[in-house]
Amino acid sequence: MNALETKQLTKTYISGHFWSKKSSPALNGIDLKIKNKQVFGLLGLNGAGKTTLLKILIGLLLPSFGKAVILGKPAGDIQTRKEIAYLPEMPYFPRYLTPLEILDFYGKLYELPVVERKKKTLEALVKVGLYEKRTHKLKEFSKGMLQKVGIAQLLLNNAKIYFLDEPTYGLDPLAAKQMRDIILELKKAGKTIFLNTHQINEVNQICDRIGILNNGHLIEDIEVKNIKGSMESFFVKRVQNNGKA
Ligand SMILES: Nc1ncnc2c1ncn2[C@@H]1O[C@H](COP(=O)(O)OP(=O)(O)OP(=O)(O)O)[C@@H](O)[C@H]1O
Ligand SMILES: [Mg+2]
Repeated sequence: MNALETKQLTKTYISGHFWSKKSSPALNGIDLKIKNKQVFGLLGLNGAGKTTLLKILIGLLLPSFGKAVILGKPAGDIQTRKEIAYLPEMPYFPRYLTPLEILDFYGKLYELPVVERKKKTLEALVKVGLYEKRTHKLKEFSKGMLQKVGIAQLLLNNAKIYFLDEPTYGLDPLAAKQMRDIILELKKAGKTIFLNTHQINEVNQICDRIGILNNGHLIEDIEVKNIKGSMESFFVKRVQNNGKA
């Protein structure tokens, strides 16, 4: 079974004032199928549409046209949300809370029983290297430390599909490696992973398959093992030639 499928997925944002409305297609007829247990990396220049696609898949945005099906249900289905873990592009947390408090809140959202919630929270904090800071207020945290809280949040839920929007954004090299190791562990555990990234080494180390979005069009969809030469030159050529080999 496919973990995820989109058909002709299209999103047009309407922006500007009512007297000068502008509509710009951020996604144009995306057809995508991702198999169970596959690790799919989505590449694309800034503004290509990666975050828009991911937000539609997890049900945060509605498409203008077309459809997205996740684990056999339409994107946004309430029951399916329990099977999904999501790391947003820039995780936002109330700054007056501590990692312990925010993770406890997420654990409640995931409906974890209290004992399991506390155990998983501490394990996740150790894993991302924030155990020592667990009772510090988030307003004292750097960008990378907040990203780590987002990653810890992912580890609470035993999801089937992980949607990660630039998971190593803002992380130092050691923390970025630890994040890649966490993703590889999820992969080993048979999870399906949808990853937005600008990091070519991340794609090389983690992904089974990649897609390239360019101006809202999916111009490439290929298994990593079928890419000849370096991933970087492959990506640059495809984007410069807008998908033509
Ligand atoms: N809320 C919004 N209203 C209007 N336009 C938007 C909105 N969000 C995104 N866009 C536009 O949609 C397009 C795609 O944006 P998106 O954030 O999906 O790109 P991205 O590939 O994730 O970029 P990046 O690599 O910088 O994160 C861009 O042209 C952007 O300006
Ligand atoms: Mg983005």
